[in-house]
Amino acid sequence: MPTRKQLRNELKQRRNTHSKAQCQELSLQICEHIRRSKPFTHRQRLALYYSIGNEVSLEHLFHYAWTLNKTLFLPVLSHFPKGHLWWIKFLEHTPLYLNRYQIPEPVHPARARRTKLRSLDVIFMPLVGFDDKGNRLGMGGGYYDRSLSRCFRPSTAWHRPVRVGVAYSWQQVTSIPVETWDIPLDAIVTEQGVHWFNTK
Ligand SMILES: Nc1ncnc2c1ncn2[C@@H]1O[C@H](COP(=O)(O)OP(=O)(O)OP(=O)(O)O)[C@@H](O)[C@H]1O
Ligand SMILES: [Mg+2]
Repeated sequence: MPTRKQLRNELKQRRNTHSKAQCQELSLQICEHIRRSKPFTHRQRLALYYSIGNEVSLEHLFHYAWTLNKTLFLPVLSHFPKGHLWWIKFLEHTPLYLNRYQIPEPVHPARARRTKLRSLDVIFMPLVGFDDKGNRLGMGGGYYDRSLSRCFRPSTAWHRPVRVGVAYSWQQVTSIPVETWDIPLDAIVTEQGVHWFNTK
């Protein structure tokens, strides 16, 4: 079985074989699937993300979600504790700035109130690869794993946000070697539709 490093390299190469135009077209289709999916239509507090490079873009969803009065959140890099994300409310006129990875984040005061993770209904997240068991391979920073581990403690098991990976179907691999800290996905959305894993 290929190592995580080999898989990441292979998947990044695969990503480069697809043109910007192809990725934009597929992103539109993926957003269409999300718009019709239960985690979107039946839930209110949704964490989305800004894509970088050829990641699936969710930008088509932002405005539509606001017209439905959804409450949107975006991840921001935490300075303390380091290596964590926290989520900031994202309103239509919230100004954005680029963080050190050149990803837009909502401008927020240093002491902004953190959104409680368990108050989020759904977290849509980007990824590099996934397999048919809902294992997720990210960019390798461990940001999502570290941040979500908080709501994987038994005391918070009563409410966990639904975790939905967003990817092109060609990001699926046969099997991802999992580490103890990896947090699995509940569902994946690709241009082929929504697929739920048996994680419960
Ligand atoms: N809960 C955690 N506590 C401490 N360190 C963690 C935790 N989760 C992951 N890490 C660290 O993060 C590093 C990267 O993890 P991993 O390879 O799973 O990243 P990833 O899932 O690809 O990234 P991301 O979650 O940002 O998409 C690992 O070396 C691991 O030590
Ligand atoms: Mg991981």
